[in-house]
Amino acid sequence: MQLALSTWQEVEDYLRTSDGLIIPIGSVEQHGPNGLIGTDHLDAEFVAAGVGDAIGAAVAPTLAYGMSQHHLAFKGSATLRPSTLMLVVRDVVESFALHGFRRFFFINGHGGNVASVTAAFDELYAARSLKERDAPVRCRMIFWSAGARCKALGDELYPGVNGAHATAAEVSLAQYYQQAHIKHAQMTPKVAPPSSPFFEAADYRARYADGRIASDPSLSSPEHGKRLYEAAVLDMVEAYRAFLAY
Ligand code: NI
Repeated sequence: MQLALSTWQEVEDYLRTSDGLIIPIGSVEQHGPNGLIGTDHLDAEFVAAGVGDAIGAAVAPTLAYGMSQHHLAFKGSATLRPSTLMLVVRDVVESFALHGFRRFFFINGHGGNVASVTAAFDELYAARSLKERDAPVRCRMIFWSAGARCKALGDELYPGVNGAHATAAEVSLAQYYQQAHIKHAQMTPKVAPPSSPFFEAADYRARYADGRIASDPSLSSPEHGKRLYEAAVLDMVEAYRAFLAY
């Protein structure tokens, strides 16, 4: 059940049966020579919608922008500051908590979001521990690709070269979702430089000239994307159900 395509009465009915809400979250940032700027939020949205369709869970509109300061030296990238992202997460969760949602399951597409979103969860809990709020909430964030099926498939399809950014897996999933927007590009070297610490945007660009980290997204295909999608939906259904049962 997609919240954006529902009426308030339908949401009221849903809340009689469940207090769980899935929130896709991603980023607006470069994804190398053949990856779409929207890869992270498109992937998260696609998998979240699949979970919602499979088990009738409510899925909120996607939080498309994320914490992407390190990508700003590439055209088309945009960031929320960590402090801004924390406030966005807080306000969205508090709004839905007013209506009776209690379990917030974030399906994430972007590693740069983790620190800020996790800190936002702690702010939500702190407000309750400090008695500023009374409605208890529980939040969890998980990568769409973090389940056992999806990990195994990634290892099978791209042994040793799935990488850390602009990965073949995330590009494949976006290709399956947006088949009219598949891009082709020459990439040199074939596998991008390995992961290392990085700092601000200029530093990132100096280390990773075409935007990729440790990946070979020339291996991506919509056929792989279909398999990854099916694996990810099964993984996330399982993870969401486990979260509701905590
Ligand atoms: Ni990504």
